[in-house]
Amino acid sequence: MSPPAASHVAIDRERSRERIARDVLTLTGSQYTRSATAVCRYAYTPEWKRAHEYFAAQLRDIGCQVWEDPVGNLVAQNVPRGERAYGLGSHCDSNRNGGPWDGPLGVALAVEVARLNREHGLDLPLRVISFLEEEGSGFGQLLLGSRIAAGRIGEAELREVRAIDDGRPFFELAAEAGHDPERFRESAATLDDLDGWIETHIEQGRVLQDERVTLGVVEAISGYVHADLYLEGRSGHAGGTPMQGRSDALAAAAEVVLEAERLAADAGHGTVATVGELDVEPGLINVIPGAVRLSLDVRGVDDEAFAGVATAIEAFAQDVARRRGVTARYVVRQAVPATPMDAPIVGALEASADAAGVTHRRMSSGAAHDTMCVAVRSPVAMLFVPCRDGISHAPEEDADPADGARASEVVLNALVRLHHRRER
Ligand code: GLV
Ligand code: MN
Ligand code: MN
Repeated sequence: MSPPAASHVAIDRERSRERIARDVLTLTGSQYTRSATAVCRYAYTPEWKRAHEYFAAQLRDIGCQVWEDPVGNLVAQNVPRGERAYGLGSHCDSNRNGGPWDGPLGVALAVEVARLNREHGLDLPLRVISFLEEEGSGFGQLLLGSRIAAGRIGEAELREVRAIDDGRPFFELAAEAGHDPERFRESAATLDDLDGWIETHIEQGRVLQDERVTLGVVEAISGYVHADLYLEGRSGHAGGTPMQGRSDALAAAAEVVLEAERLAADAGHGTVATVGELDVEPGLINVIPGAVRLSLDVRGVDDEAFAGVATAIEAFAQDVARRRGVTARYVVRQAVPATPMDAPIVGALEASADAAGVTHRRMSSGAAHDTMCVAVRSPVAMLFVPCRDGISHAPEEDADPADGARASEVVLNALVRLHHRRER
């Protein structure tokens, strides 16, 4: 005989909508952002610290124990440390020209689920995490806090990580902000004893909006290669140097940018490639560029396809360099494989969305998320809510907190289902 299905817990969606809106929009206040025109908050700044303090206070209010791991990932749990729990969360740092929702929605939603768990007397063991530096806005390294917790970054590599603002080492800034980075390996405990993990996030695309579907249940997150290409040629007078025999580093870079676009388009499987950073030296109107650095961001859900594109771009850059009399040096910042989501958690999210009467569809995530690193230690899944016109990483980023409330009901019930199954 099959056991009885877990019954659906209906929540007061209006109350959850208000609380989620309050938590997310509080962090757009002036003490939480370094920009007057955007949300700008990154690792170890006072604004980032205040965001963590805000959520820590919310979590203490509902009886959670709250702490930070040695590098500053914020962790809270409603059962004693060391006990098994389901993990929920996201990040509070933002893109430098960011909006309110990317990150804080997932943390606000985790806190809301913890509140609902208590109000409905459900006794689900929960851990809430806000990861350090997901966006890489402080140190140019995506998913830094979750990579440290997952053991995906070694000491030598971490010692090389430097702040974008002033070039100071990660270890120095973390210690100055009151953390204990020399003990970074102990951040692994942040991901100990997780029975599952769900991150809720804005979609960062417009599929849900265009199809009028309320929630996206993520099937896989694109993997990526982040690299820098250094091209070195020869500077010279823009007027006095004939076109023949120049070693123009920027002209070489231009070829690489266009070839990256072509290679990604040809690779299929949703592979994408972007050159988002370009430093040109000396950067003067009347001087041939002698040196260029360009960044490469290559992603996709098919590891072979996107890694193949990254390798082909490097090979093409070496060819161009030879042809144009410049040198090319390709340095990988990090490479993270595509991450499939856990089928039982995906199923529990879908069943709960059905029971809640909320429309949903499966989709993949082109953006990276801390969930990719949590996946090293736990079964994981992600839930997307629509964002207006698909805009994110921009001050115009907008979402409807009512969708957040629906997502909180779905996540809560997915955990009830998973827990019910475990307890049988
Ligand atoms: C993180 O937001 C990313 O760039 O995917
Ligand atoms: Mn995010
Ligand atoms: Mn982001």
